[in-house]
Amino acid sequence: MLVVKSLHIIFVVSWFAGLFYLPRIFVNHAMVEDAATRERLALMEHKLYRFMTPIGILAVGLGLWLWFGYGFGGGWLHAKTALVVFLIGYHLYCGKLVRDFAAGRNTRSHVWFRVFNEVPVLVLAAVVFLAVLKPF
Ligand code: HEM
Repeated sequence: MLVVKSLHIIFVVSWFAGLFYLPRIFVNHAMVEDAATRERLALMEHKLYRFMTPIGILAVGLGLWLWFGYGFGGGWLHAKTALVVFLIGYHLYCGKLVRDFAAGRNTRSHVWFRVFNEVPVLVLAAVVFLAVLKPF
């Protein structure tokens, strides 16, 4: 169980590296004018999203293995899973934004992306407190 939990935390951390960095690239992308920089940022976004998606699937898969393989339960896990479902929605929305930027369809400002970039920080804090403290 401890090996599965260790792998769970490793993939969670790696997933969050992408969830933190990709919106930061969006902030920069929404501010640049020249086509060469836009093209380079679009390529970075595409490669990062392609990298972080299987890692997110492994993080969630290992969490589900812990839940159903080792009999965990409780309100904390339901609340945590609800936050993770929101996080999966955030991840998929980032995928839509990657496609929008690549097609030159983005209409959001860099200020909007700065706020958008903070969302995973709040979710991470809430999930970690739930997973470690198990308050209910
Ligand atoms: C549906 C997705 C997920 C499920 C079902 C799940 C389930 C679990 C379970 C059952 C444990 C073991 C708890 C224990 O040993 O006390 C665990 C540990 C942990 N999970 Fe998840 N998890 C999921 C996603 C995540 C995500 C997205 C994060 C980070 C934001 C996360 C962070 C953690 C942490 C930090 C621990 C270690 C807690 C401890 O050792 O006390 N998990 N997870």
